[in-house]
Amino acid sequence: MEDLKGLILSGGKGTRLRPITHTSAKQLVPVANKPVLFYGIEAMAAAGIREVGIIVAPETGGEIRTAVGDGSRFGVGITYIEQDAPLGLAHAVLTAQPFLGDSAFVMYLGDNLLQGGIEDLVAAFRTNEPEALILLTAVPDPENYGVAELDGGQVVRLSEKPSSPATDLALVGVYMFTPAIHEAARAISPSGRGELEITDAIQHLVDGGRRVEPHIVKGWWKDTGRLEDMLEANRLVLDTIESRVDGELVDSQIGGRVVVEPGARLERSYVRGPAIVGAGARVVDAYVGPYTAIGEECVIEQAEVEHSILLAGSSVRALDGRMESSLLGRNVSIGRDGRQPRAYRFMVGDNSEIGIL
Ligand code: TTP
Repeated sequence: MEDLKGLILSGGKGTRLRPITHTSAKQLVPVANKPVLFYGIEAMAAAGIREVGIIVAPETGGEIRTAVGDGSRFGVGITYIEQDAPLGLAHAVLTAQPFLGDSAFVMYLGDNLLQGGIEDLVAAFRTNEPEALILLTAVPDPENYGVAELDGGQVVRLSEKPSSPATDLALVGVYMFTPAIHEAARAISPSGRGELEITDAIQHLVDGGRRVEPHIVKGWWKDTGRLEDMLEANRLVLDTIESRVDGELVDSQIGGRVVVEPGARLERSYVRGPAIVGAGARVVDAYVGPYTAIGEECVIEQAEVEHSILLAGSSVRALDGRMESSLLGRNVSIGRDGRQPRAYRFMVGDNSEIGIL
């Protein structure tokens, strides 16, 4: 199994993260100022995988190519594979077959984050040589996931978002397959939601007497498909950062673990970590609280921001209340201009959400 390849799924619709996904791929939303997708590529590189295919959608493929490039900076070669329509995870596997050939491969959902990487799993896959290896974790709401039933240390049944789950073991978005998965993906039919489900393809392997090995993940795992999960992932990753101040502090203080990137400037402000202030950002007469990731060239002025992600070029000015648990896209501007009478004035895209709490 020398030529293990990587397949990262970075297409999809991203409906749950609208309006961000109206203009951008959700896999490029930054977690601790690094696109989610990069964590998956890095995990593959760290596990010794050298050839990675990335499934992209026609709408967002260009943007993903621009962000990731040829993979050289990650130490991998990247092949982009366009999927015409998001017809399911097993459809993505079929689409990637020309790239995968008869190699075994690791499949990684491009909007997922797995603490601790995949090295142990790749090692177990190589040693035990099952037909498929799936990752599982206990969740409080299994009805929202693919769910596995085990017997004698093997997977015996899988169901996609079951209304009455048999266990609380959810499938994590990282899988390992031998080429047997291609035949299984060809054998199944679309589900009720019109997708070729990877759970059905794996069930097909089980039904054919193939060995599907379960692994319970030890660290945390996050699917960043919804706003709350994206913020939670940001929190978990920021919890692991080391302090570093490359920018400038003017009459300002930082507390806890804070990264201030080059060219960023804090004036008369307090940043309480874990937090990251991106390159060229300005924080003026402001408070930045824990679990905040401020993108490049953002401005926070006379405002308080906490537990939020701000993409590049956004600004928050002169707010009375603290902005919290928020996700701002690129070049978003929020603020008060001091005019009377006071009022709210919005110019907001489709599917946006504004909470006045
Ligand atoms: P999902 O988050 O399950 O699907 P989605 O991206 O369509 O999002 P939503 O449910 O909010 O509309 O997909 C998991 C990952 O797999 C994600 O990175 C997108 C990717 N994907 C593909 O590349 N092709 C597909 O056909 C599907 C369904 C998902």
